[in-house]
Amino acid sequence: MDNNELELSAETMRDLVRQAMDRIVEHIESLPRQPAVDVEGARELAISLVEPVPERATPFSELLDLLFQRVIPKSFNTAGPGYLAYIPGGGIFHAALADLIADAVNRYVGVWLAAPGLSQLEANVLRWFSGIVGYPREGRGVLTTGGSLANLTAVVAARKDRLPENFLSGTIYLSDQSHNSVFKAASLAGFPENNCRVIPSDGQFRIRLDALALRIEQDRNEGRTPFLIAGNAGTVNTGAVDDLEALADIAKENSLWFHVDAAYGGFFMLTERGRQAMRGIDRSDSVTLDPHKALFLPYGTGCLLVRDGSGRLLSVFRGTLARLQRPEGLAAAKNARSGAVSKEPRRKAGSRALGGGGAQKNPGYRNCGRSTTFPAGLPFRPSRSVGGRAE
Ligand SMILES: Cc1ncc(COP(=O)(O)O)c(C=O)c1O
Repeated sequence: MDNNELELSAETMRDLVRQAMDRIVEHIESLPRQPAVDVEGARELAISLVEPVPERATPFSELLDLLFQRVIPKSFNTAGPGYLAYIPGGGIFHAALADLIADAVNRYVGVWLAAPGLSQLEANVLRWFSGIVGYPREGRGVLTTGGSLANLTAVVAARKDRLPENFLSGTIYLSDQSHNSVFKAASLAGFPENNCRVIPSDGQFRIRLDALALRIEQDRNEGRTPFLIAGNAGTVNTGAVDDLEALADIAKENSLWFHVDAAYGGFFMLTERGRQAMRGIDRSDSVTLDPHKALFLPYGTGCLLVRDGSGRLLSVFRGTLARLQRPEGLAAAKNARSGAVSKEPRRKAGSRALGGGGAQKNPGYRNCGRSTTFPAGLPFRPSRSVGGRAE
């Protein structure tokens, strides 16, 4: 093959895919036999990979050797059956194929009119997710690279909805079990660290409601502007789920935005026990979901849903609207009931829908729900949340 050609012949393209696919399948088939972790000599490996900008072509087979023999094995085997630490990543194969298709056809999905079909696929995926958490038809969403960006988007949506342009009096309520990404989101959204109120959790690692209500009242008395409660549906440490009904009540009484970080636990809504544990999630203003956790999709697939999404979600990304979108595109988008402008800081959301939730169309959600077992008892025990018995 001529590696220095950028326009490849049909035969070469097929050959490259075949070569890559052979290695990929060999890798996936050997996952159960691979160690759960192999990072011995990782530093030496990393140092050996440092190189200047490559001026010359490298044969494809050499690159595959480098990746599959040296680079990939030196890692945590997060997709293997022996890996039970942190968040395991199944990375279902259907999604890899969808990503290949999306990247190969490389359609522009930043504007609805440029790829209406792909935009509609994204809208479908978001509607399915919206239905899973029990949001009404007004629910809207955005596919992101993960829970962190979804939490950031939620904080910005809440800030824009509840606070004036000068928002520095705003205070955010989360628990001592909340994921670090919520703190990062607050910081990226412009809030000083001490605007985050860390509320202690109870014996079951759920946010203490009495302490929360008290702190909101205190802050208000001191002239601050409480505006956002970030609840948990599946904490990263123990899988604890906050009392979401009670948080929804407190948020309503105090006119606060109620966000639920369900990055870890959200898709357990596909099970009866999960629906029971997360009662009240449908009363939230926004929910973070991570298809790359309980839906087994490859890392890099997150989602934010906003209950009353049409205006509130678009307000986050409004800056791009006037500059990019032509009026007929907007009108057409409205008729098709899908987003006019990519609701994401980056511009690849439609292909994310193909590679992400859309890939679930192939195995079907029923199968995903079947292999998503809500762990018995709370808090979750992380090792029990991996695959297993059907409910
Ligand atoms: C509860 C929770 N929220 C947010 C995140 C951040 O998600 P991501 O790593 O997809 O950005 C995680 C990741 O583990 C999580 O467990």
